[in-house]
Amino acid sequence: PAAPDIHRGLTGVVVDTTAISTVIQETNSLTYRGYPVQDLAGRRSFEEVAHLLWYGDLPGPAELSAFQARERALRPLDRTTAEVLARLPRTCHPMDVLRTAVSFFGAEDPAEDDGSPAANRAKSLALLAKLPTVVAADHRRRHGLAPIQPDPSLGYAENFFHMCFGEVPDAEVVRCFEISLVLYAEHSFNASTFTARVVTSTLADLYSAVTAAIGALKGPLHGGANEAVMHMLGEIGAPERVGPWLDEAFAAKRKIMGFGHRVYKHGDSRVPLMQEATDRLVARSTDPATARLAALHTALRDAMATRKGIHPNLDYPAGLAYHLMGFDVPTFTPLFVMSRVTGWTAHITEQLGHNALIRPLAHYDGPGQRPVPAAS
Ligand code: CMC
Repeated sequence: PAAPDIHRGLTGVVVDTTAISTVIQETNSLTYRGYPVQDLAGRRSFEEVAHLLWYGDLPGPAELSAFQARERALRPLDRTTAEVLARLPRTCHPMDVLRTAVSFFGAEDPAEDDGSPAANRAKSLALLAKLPTVVAADHRRRHGLAPIQPDPSLGYAENFFHMCFGEVPDAEVVRCFEISLVLYAEHSFNASTFTARVVTSTLADLYSAVTAAIGALKGPLHGGANEAVMHMLGEIGAPERVGPWLDEAFAAKRKIMGFGHRVYKHGDSRVPLMQEATDRLVARSTDPATARLAALHTALRDAMATRKGIHPNLDYPAGLAYHLMGFDVPTFTPLFVMSRVTGWTAHITEQLGHNALIRPLAHYDGPGQRPVPAAS
């Protein structure tokens, strides 16, 4: 039979409704529950945005305090989890550590999994609170350092820096980090969110869905791009190498990491704000290496626009920002997980609210039916 109209990669296919976020093409903006993310980032904390995504609205002052108190109390890891994670090979990628951690949380959760919105929100909050503790402990372990316990007197972002580095950097750095968390939190039916929805559609539990989503985010065409950006900049080395490096990359049909987007074809709406926050980190640095790296970053962006008309996505400025904040490159995608877990879990609840098993069809183009040869 003739091949039906196939949309490889589900390009352009609308598979369901969502009330969580949307990209408005006409204004090139992204909204979370109706609020432009450009207006949330820098003005509202990541905790407020998590509340917005899960409950549909920003918290009032009393709701926010209660939410923060619960999040702060849930941060510590129990001894068994810490021991299991400490036994993983030191060479293993932090995304593998995180994926294992979420899977282990699922195995350990004694609660009967009723899948109700309330039960799932409680699990989501526990993940939001505990994932930074896992990421920070693993960051330190890879550097031969003992973990630092969470500090319940600190906000989410400050506490994360405290657990990674033993100190909280100045407000500009924390602000830039918080902006990245808010911008990364949610993006409709991206690959990892869709993965979470597919798993949820079978009525599997939330931990299974989030574990699968972490696997989907790891790849360089999705969240792994923020890490790949730094490797690529390292490979190019200097602004004057951009031209010849691009010649070779285009000849080899290489994808340039941190550029292009399935949804945005004229520039990612989240980039200007992230770039501005990153530029502030560059401007306050006195290290000549930072100035050189920033010049290379700009040169590649400009060359991609001129030569291909392809613009950076959020991973491009975020990768540079995370480097300037002092995180090592393998930690970049786990930082994305810490944020996107809010969007994933909002979608898991929404999927369960109007569930239908996600099970598409394929056009078969393998061998025709044939007899099984006799066994010799
Ligand atoms: N480098 C070089 N060429 C590109 C790139 C790129 N980064 N992105 C798109 N193109 C070209 C592509 O080769 C194609 O050209 P042609 O029509 O001549 O074959 C054209 O632009 C259309 O691209 P496409 O592959 O059909 O676009 P897509 O929607 O399938 O791909 C993408 C989107 C994100 C997979 C792709 O742009 C890409 O691989 N980018 C690099 C990886 C990356 O930065 N990923 C992060 C995505 S956004 C944030 C996130 O999820 O983390």
